[in-house]
Amino acid sequence: MEDGRRVLSNVIHSQVELHKEFGGVVPELAARDHLERLPHLLDLALERAGAQPDDIDLIAVTRGPGLAGCLLVGVGVGEGLAAAWSKPLTGVNHLWGHIYAAMLARPDLEPPLLGLVVSGAHSDLVRMPKHARFEVIGRTRDDAAGEAFDKAARMLGLGYPGGPALDRLARSGDPRRQPLPRPSLPGLEYSFSGLKTALLYRLRDLGDTATEQDKADLAAAFERSVVESLLEKLDVALTEHPYEEVVVSGGVAANTLLRQRAAEVVADRARLTMPPLELCTDNAAMIAAAGFFTSPPRGEVGSRSRLPGGEIRPVEANPSLGWSS
Ligand code: KG4
Ligand code: ZN
Repeated sequence: MEDGRRVLSNVIHSQVELHKEFGGVVPELAARDHLERLPHLLDLALERAGAQPDDIDLIAVTRGPGLAGCLLVGVGVGEGLAAAWSKPLTGVNHLWGHIYAAMLARPDLEPPLLGLVVSGAHSDLVRMPKHARFEVIGRTRDDAAGEAFDKAARMLGLGYPGGPALDRLARSGDPRRQPLPRPSLPGLEYSFSGLKTALLYRLRDLGDTATEQDKADLAAAFERSVVESLLEKLDVALTEHPYEEVVVSGGVAANTLLRQRAAEVVADRARLTMPPLELCTDNAAMIAAAGFFTSPPRGEVGSRSRLPGGEIRPVEANPSLGWSS
C-alpha cells in the first residue's frame, strides 16, 4: 500500500476448498493454513508490488476481532517480520479495516461518515466522526447478516460458502411467491434469528415437495428480508445523523440486491460508497489502509512500537475486540 490509498498488491488465498467438506470454517484448520500460506503470500505480495523489504515503512496486522488461532498466527508473523526487517508494527482493528476499504475505493473519501458494516459476525451501524474514532449506534441482537445468509444457504442445501451461493440462487427466484417476514425491532437494532426459523419451518412444511423454483423463491425472499431490514435502519440512522458520506461494507456488501437497494435508499441524501467486491470481503489491503490512517504519525511509529531496549512491542491479539480501539 502506498500513502494509505493506492493498493500496490492485494494477494488473497481463499480457504473455501479447505473448509467446504465440513460445511463451515474449522478454526484449527484455518489457523494452520494461515501459518502454511503466509510466507508464500508475503513473497507474492512483495513481488507483485515490485517492492523490497527495505521499501517498507510500516507493517500492519489484524489484532481482532476474529478467530484466536488465526489472529495469533498473523500477529506472530507480523512480529517476526518487524524484528527481522527492523520495521515498526501496528495492530489493526478488523472492523475498522472494513470501513477503510471504502477509502481505497474513493481516494477523496474522508470522515465524518455513517457506516454499515455487514460481515459474517457483525451487522453494525457506526458513526465515524474522524480517523480512528468510531461510535456504534446500532447492532444485531442475535445473528449477524452474513451468519444468517450462511445458515439459510445451508438449509437450502447450498453448502459453504453460503452467502455468495444464496445470492446466485436468489437471482432466479421471485421474493413474492414465498414471502418471509421482515424482522423489525425498535430503534437501530437488528435481529435475524426469527427470519431464519421462519425459513426452517417453511422448508419443513414443503418437505420433499420443494422444487428448485421454490428454493430459488425462498432464497430471494430471505435475501429481500435481510436487505430491507438492514436498509430500513440505515435509513433511520441517516435521518437521525445526516452525514454527507455513507459507507456500506463487509462481506455481505458484496450482495447484489444490497448493492442495488442501498443506492436507492441513500439516493441523493448522501454520497454512498460501497467498495468493489474484492475489497468488501476480507482482504489485506483494507488492513494496510487502516494501519496507515490510524497508527501514530510516521517517525513516531518507530519509537512507539519499540520498547526502550529496541525490542518490538508485542501486538496483543484480541478475538473479541469491539469498535472502541
Ligand atoms: O467480511 P467477511 O469477508 O468476513 C468476516 O469478517 O466475517 O464476510 C463474510 C460474510 C459471510 O457470511 C459470507 O456468506 C457473506 O459475507 N457474503 C455474502 C456475499 N458474499 C459474501 N452474503 C450475501 N451475498 C453475497 N454475495
Ligand atoms: Zn471481515
